[in-house]
Amino acid sequence: MTTNATKRPRALVTGASSGIGTAFAERLAHDGYDLIIVARRRDRLESLAGQLQSSYSVHVEVLAADLSQSDGLRTVEKRAAEDSALELLVNNAGFGGYMPFVELDPDKAEELINLQVLAVTRLTRAVLPGMIARERGSIINVSSRLAFSGSMGSSQLPKRATYAGTKAFINTFTQLLQSELEGTGVHVQALCPGVVQTEFHEQVGIDSTRYPAGIVMEPEDVVQASLAGLKLGEVICIPAMEDPGLLTQIQESERRFFELTRSGSAAERYRS
Ligand SMILES: NC(=O)c1ccc[n+]([C@@H]2O[C@H](COP(=O)([O-])OP(=O)(O)OC[C@H]3O[C@@H](n4cnc5c(N)ncnc54)[C@H](OP(=O)(O)O)[C@@H]3O)[C@@H](O)[C@H]2O)c1
Repeated sequence: MTTNATKRPRALVTGASSGIGTAFAERLAHDGYDLIIVARRRDRLESLAGQLQSSYSVHVEVLAADLSQSDGLRTVEKRAAEDSALELLVNNAGFGGYMPFVELDPDKAEELINLQVLAVTRLTRAVLPGMIARERGSIINVSSRLAFSGSMGSSQLPKRATYAGTKAFINTFTQLLQSELEGTGVHVQALCPGVVQTEFHEQVGIDSTRYPAGIVMEPEDVVQASLAGLKLGEVICIPAMEDPGLLTQIQESERRFFELTRSGSAAERYRS
């Protein structure tokens, strides 16, 4: 079992070599967390680790791993499960893979699902027993506002069936997990940013300077919203949502839908 000689809380951040993950690592180091930072690009992680160690005098461990591959995922899972000081897991690693589904290489679709469904599930499963035993800890699963976009086609938004589907999984998984964790002292959050200024857009061939002015958020503001949302007990955190009542309306509609579709008979229009 890994002990924490420093007595500082520790956080594990996936996808820390860029964008929102780097912003989480920087903010958490500033707040006094020791870190385990994970991504594939070891050089970037090592440079970030050096910078954070010298700026904040925290301990930063680099774990270079491909979380879409079972070897990489198992290595990180094992490290996370053994950590007796882990206070926070940020499941952030991800990529867009926007394109018409029939043109999406099936191996890319699998990579998206491995990273944004399987790795999120397995890392969450790995850290929970320890957190529950310690009666403390948090997990932030980075989702997207696109998790809510299933009823919206692709005339304005990118073609994204697999990507948005994985993010919808994250939201439902996180909401239901929180209900199972009530009273344990462990909290989970699905973080649903809109457009954020990171390398994500280049990866999917979108020039982010073409987004309308005023809709692009800085990664540091996403992280601030997430950590503030965690303190507020928000299970779904939507950084740009001014009125939390909007989310309540969606959830009330879901409950009403459930009540109104609870029947053993097929609806009238299906009977002939
Ligand atoms: N930017 C946006 O507009 C936006 C909006 C909503 C949600 N999000 C979500 O925010 C999260 C972070 O994205 P970002 O915007 O910060 O993008 P980013 O700058 O491209 O960073 C993505 C991170 O994920 C890591 N990663 C990708 N594939 C990986 C793999 N197979 N194994 C391990 N790490 C991997 C990358 O590191 P390596 O390449 O070094 O492995 C990188 O650190 C993602 O889950 C994304 O879906 C982004």
